[in-house]
Amino acid sequence: MFKNQQIAADIFYVGVNDRQKHKFENMISLPNGVSYNSYLIVDEKVALVDTVEVQFGDIFIDKIQSQLQGRTVDYLIINHMEPDHSGSIRSIRKYYPDMVIVGNSKTLSMVEGYYGVTDNTLEIKDGEILSLGKHKLQFHLTPMVHWPETMMTYDKTEMVLFSGDAFGSFGTLDGSVVDDKLDVNRYWDEMARYYANVVGKYGSAIQKALKKLTPLEFKYICSTHGPVWKKYITEVVDMYDQFSRYHGDDGVVIIYGSMYGNTELMAETVAQGVAEMGVKNIIIHNVSKSDPSIIIRDVFKYKALIVGSPTYSNELFPEIDSILRKIEIRQVKNRVFGCFGSFTWASAAVKRLKTFVETMKWQSAEISVDEKQGLKEDNYKACLELGRQVAILMKDLVDEPEHCV
Ligand code: FEO
Repeated sequence: MFKNQQIAADIFYVGVNDRQKHKFENMISLPNGVSYNSYLIVDEKVALVDTVEVQFGDIFIDKIQSQLQGRTVDYLIINHMEPDHSGSIRSIRKYYPDMVIVGNSKTLSMVEGYYGVTDNTLEIKDGEILSLGKHKLQFHLTPMVHWPETMMTYDKTEMVLFSGDAFGSFGTLDGSVVDDKLDVNRYWDEMARYYANVVGKYGSAIQKALKKLTPLEFKYICSTHGPVWKKYITEVVDMYDQFSRYHGDDGVVIIYGSMYGNTELMAETVAQGVAEMGVKNIIIHNVSKSDPSIIIRDVFKYKALIVGSPTYSNELFPEIDSILRKIEIRQVKNRVFGCFGSFTWASAAVKRLKTFVETMKWQSAEISVDEKQGLKEDNYKACLELGRQVAILMKDLVDEPEHCV
């Protein structure tokens, strides 16, 4: 029944859209949904590249069967084992019991660990080639883009890179799957949000992978999420290079928590100080209201971060604590930082914010502001000065050279 969309000669899209899940990995919001991409290469031998999340297994198999009209799947190539892509391995194996599962040693160990499958497997090494007939598939191991077993598969015949999570984006594929047939403007911010939240920690590994891929020419990049890239390949590769070097655009993100408006007033004042230095790109997030995944995206996007927190039970405001932990886990590098806070009877938040910036090894403004109870004139002026200092440091910040390669 299904008419699958063709990407290149003999290569078909058999992935699915997920418009039901609220949170990716049960953490990251999905206002625009997400796609789980899978591709079928129909040659003398048939290869399926990755699967889809388990609850879409039935429709996934229907799509494959519609394309193959009674032929079998000879190989299942697993670029990435995270269950949003490997979840249908067991069901598809039931339909195609002779199908050989292809992966590197780490992949196959996870296939056994997650799904108890140990037979009919083929372990490949970095650079090895598998021939399907006309199509020659070369495997490039790219560990930690996003898990240790991740690899990419390059179809040398059609110059198609099956890239796993790399170059992926949130957002469903509505009607079409290739970028030249989609309104790509709705994906750029979603791609940044995907990068920052899902693979943001692995900048060094991504730099290594990009270096490894440099000699290859691509006509298509087929990621596991979001559009198939054809027209915008240069742009998306450049975006990944910039992201993974922790490049930030000129701009200041201010995150604050506030129970009764006192710390909020400080945030507004700090923003005014930033603006006095001619900065227009000022993004203010009330941590209790903004989506954490958007805050994290913006921390990756911009050079400077200023955080304000009230002291709460001798600690940071819990929501601020939580977002800082998320930033710390992702090991964001090379940012400018400033902080402020307020307290009623004993100060603790600003001290903890200073510990945070030491952990992150970022540049910090000399001044910080710590107000007891309501904002008064001396600290009002200090908030303006904090904004001005961060703006100056931000303008002087230069990108680190290639991070790890
Ligand atoms: Fe889309 Fe790392 O899985």
